[in-house]
Amino acid sequence: MKGISNLTFILFIFLSITSTAQDANYANLLQNIDSREKTSLNGKWDMIVDPLENGFYNHRLQEYDKGYFRNAKMQSPSDLIEYDFDTSLQLDVPGDWNTQMDKLYYYEGTVWYKKDFDYTPTSNELTYLYFEAVNYEAIVYLNGEKIGKHVGGYTPFQFDVTDKLVDGNNFVVVKVDNKRKKENVPTVNQDWWNYGGITRSVHLISVPKTHISDYYVQLEKGETGKIKGWVAVENATNGDEVSINIPELKKTIKTKLNDGKASFLINAKPSLWSPTSPKLYEVVINTKTDEVVDNIGFRTVTTDGSKILVNGKETFLKGISIHEEAAFKTGRVISVEECKVLLNWAKELGCNFLRLAHYPHSEAMVKEAEKMGFLIWSEIPVYWTIQFENEDTYANAENQLTEMISRDKNRASVVLWSMANETPESEPRLSFISNLAEKARSLDNSRLITAALDTQGKGDDGNLIEDPLGKVVDVIGINNYCGWYYGDVDSCSSIKWASAYNKPMIMSEIGGGALYGKHGDKNERWTEEYQDALFKSNIEMMENIEFMAGLSPWILMDFRSSRRPLRRIQDDFNRKGLISEQGMKKKAFYTLQEFYLDMDKK
Ligand code: GCU
Repeated sequence: MKGISNLTFILFIFLSITSTAQDANYANLLQNIDSREKTSLNGKWDMIVDPLENGFYNHRLQEYDKGYFRNAKMQSPSDLIEYDFDTSLQLDVPGDWNTQMDKLYYYEGTVWYKKDFDYTPTSNELTYLYFEAVNYEAIVYLNGEKIGKHVGGYTPFQFDVTDKLVDGNNFVVVKVDNKRKKENVPTVNQDWWNYGGITRSVHLISVPKTHISDYYVQLEKGETGKIKGWVAVENATNGDEVSINIPELKKTIKTKLNDGKASFLINAKPSLWSPTSPKLYEVVINTKTDEVVDNIGFRTVTTDGSKILVNGKETFLKGISIHEEAAFKTGRVISVEECKVLLNWAKELGCNFLRLAHYPHSEAMVKEAEKMGFLIWSEIPVYWTIQFENEDTYANAENQLTEMISRDKNRASVVLWSMANETPESEPRLSFISNLAEKARSLDNSRLITAALDTQGKGDDGNLIEDPLGKVVDVIGINNYCGWYYGDVDSCSSIKWASAYNKPMIMSEIGGGALYGKHGDKNERWTEEYQDALFKSNIEMMENIEFMAGLSPWILMDFRSSRRPLRRIQDDFNRKGLISEQGMKKKAFYTLQEFYLDMDKK
């Protein structure tokens, strides 16, 4: 590189950095739909339960074109049509079907959803049908025509339906299937209820033909004075201008689009986002035809040996794990209010960190947590023993990863991308997850990569972390159930830990079950006293782990799981919550709260 000028060199480095991220293949998703005009398709949808997929296959099990997606109507009295959405039962969207109807409580299979809506086309606009999430497989039809398919229950997807919409009444039909299959992600066994349905909101979103489709605005990795990023504009003309404006910082930058993309670097000194000061800045992105407004926080997250640094400052992650189970009514969380119930409990617990398990939670959850100053671990459901040698399974996992990162890449709260949970050691598993980690870094190199392991072995001096995945990740998550799945409660406090890696470790799961209100001796399972003693003993153990940079005990609230049938104790709920699903705090809640609040005093 001798002989080329410094300026050319900096520009070259800058272009190589931004060009990589800018050219990474993000999901085809409108960024930050909250800033968009939207027509909500939420509410009552007609539905047909179809365990035999009779509305999709003929009796020869061939897909046929007279399926339920046609929403056919009798034209004459002699017509034979053996389904009718208009006279069928209804389900609420968003929502899972399992907690809406007793007879669908255990149901896994196909349910057809249909919604009528009126639409008036506007010239020079594109219209997207946007689903925030559907569990598990969604085949989508508009006005009787197939427009696309999506697999994966916890990430958004969209279809450009501009040419498919008609002026006036339209109908969308979705074939939702939550059947579990070995090749799926997650696979057939999971310790959470397989809630099926259109579990998050559905929108019609119209945007100018030439519109801002995506952007990335974050601090340069490890830099607190450089805001870097890119903007992607659909149907742009080379040379078109895009401006990025941060009014509160009195910063505006204008740059030109090339192949629909433009990158930028802004020298600025924003107040940094952190758990104690979750500062967000309004960021306005403009082109001559479109405008998007977002509220973005600027922070860096890095590691130094076994320490996690937020904005260069060592930050201990006082966390809790959360499932997307709604309190009180149970079932999938469907509103910001339900998110806030869980987040306020975590705040009360003294947390600055949340492990959102084991799949991406809603965008509302991530944004609400960001406003409240929570650092977030976000994970894709590569859970237990998925088919690591199956290429389709890998493509599916990578797609869910891409959608997760695409949606939340501008969220300061998200600091950890988790590739997997409790996967058994093997070569295929190592390369599967290593490839995911590489993909994640190509999409976003400003955050830390992790995974939750349960492969700790017995070393000379207690538990030893030496899983080869430890080489791949930036932060090592450890799930360890001393006092519950192994060892008696009192033994935990004296357990020592060692690691083959000079990297931060997060104790991503510890815990034990208790039925709220069940009291007894601390050696009696399912009592609050047992769970409390277990937490005390595990906290003692963790206080001696030098390389532990945080924890997220299992779990904030009891949650439904079909692996938990013990009547009068579990009744289909995993009882490791510190709070019951009816909001009752167990003894251990206060033990962990004290541990966290004491930490602040030190
Ligand atoms: C596992 C797993 C969780 C599960 C928990 C439990 O570690 O990661 O999904 O719910 O243990 O057994 O309660």
